[in-house]
Amino acid sequence: MTGSFGREYNSAKTYKHIEAAPHCAAMGAEIKGVDVADLSDSAFKEVEDALFRHKMIYLRNQHIDARTLEAFSARFGEFADDAYTDGIDGSRNVQPIIKEADAKTGWVFGSGWHTDSPFLKRPPAISILYGVDVPPYGGDTVWANSALAYSLLSPTMKDLLKGLKVHMSIRDVLENAQTKGKAGDDPIGKLVKLRGAPDLPEDMKEKIRGAFHPLVRTHPVSGEQCLYVDGSYTINFEGFEEEEAAPIIDYLVRHITQPAFVCRLRWEKNTLVLWDNRLCIHQALNDYDGFRREMYRTTIAGEAPR
Ligand code: SIN
Repeated sequence: MTGSFGREYNSAKTYKHIEAAPHCAAMGAEIKGVDVADLSDSAFKEVEDALFRHKMIYLRNQHIDARTLEAFSARFGEFADDAYTDGIDGSRNVQPIIKEADAKTGWVFGSGWHTDSPFLKRPPAISILYGVDVPPYGGDTVWANSALAYSLLSPTMKDLLKGLKVHMSIRDVLENAQTKGKAGDDPIGKLVKLRGAPDLPEDMKEKIRGAFHPLVRTHPVSGEQCLYVDGSYTINFEGFEEEEAAPIIDYLVRHITQPAFVCRLRWEKNTLVLWDNRLCIHQALNDYDGFRREMYRTTIAGEAPR
């Protein structure tokens, strides 16, 4: 890494309707003074501004049902096609992510550093996750700031990376789910059930073919440049052999996820978290066997990365 960063980065901005308290030096903020079930348009605009500024924001003590989660999410734009579930009864854009206390699996939904569904031509811009039942400890989510990571690369490395296209595919996640996960009705369990199928469904073949996106992309609102690469879905660069690309991908993911660029959230019941998939990668930790974790997620459509 070249250079350093400090108090100006991820600093608090003064808002009129909300308070945004920085969570870590690299990213994240807790938003206070907001009830998402009852939010004026001007307060909503400030929440959105804080999301793009801090990349991940969270709000404690939000007492909402699935319809309110869906209605709040819809204020950010149209829903993304969810690549993994069909939603819950009555709220098809609200995706359940549930692990029971007696479930043991080597691969949970969200395992491995990733940005959400980048194998789509228009990957989700924003993800929103609500905790209904959370372990007393464990089950944290971790994010890493890929814009900060890009900004601290050397000018020569930046020049080298500009112009490259990443190939994103569900291929390796499917394989990890099938070798480490358990069959069931949850999103990972459904991937496991496809193991040994004589022919994969057409939509799965499409996700394996995946999509090509610029490795260095520009945020459409803030103009920030960032590395669009992850450790789960990135399988190659356009025009490369996979073995040529692998060490570069590995280096970039290690660079982005170094401790200084990361923030980690300890969940509490009724916490609502939002993150910007264009500017950060994240992962769910699989360290809470014996505890139940019940979350609900929505995703908001993004643009074709540029
Ligand atoms: C996800 O990757 O969207 C899920 C994160 C989590 O369950 O903590």
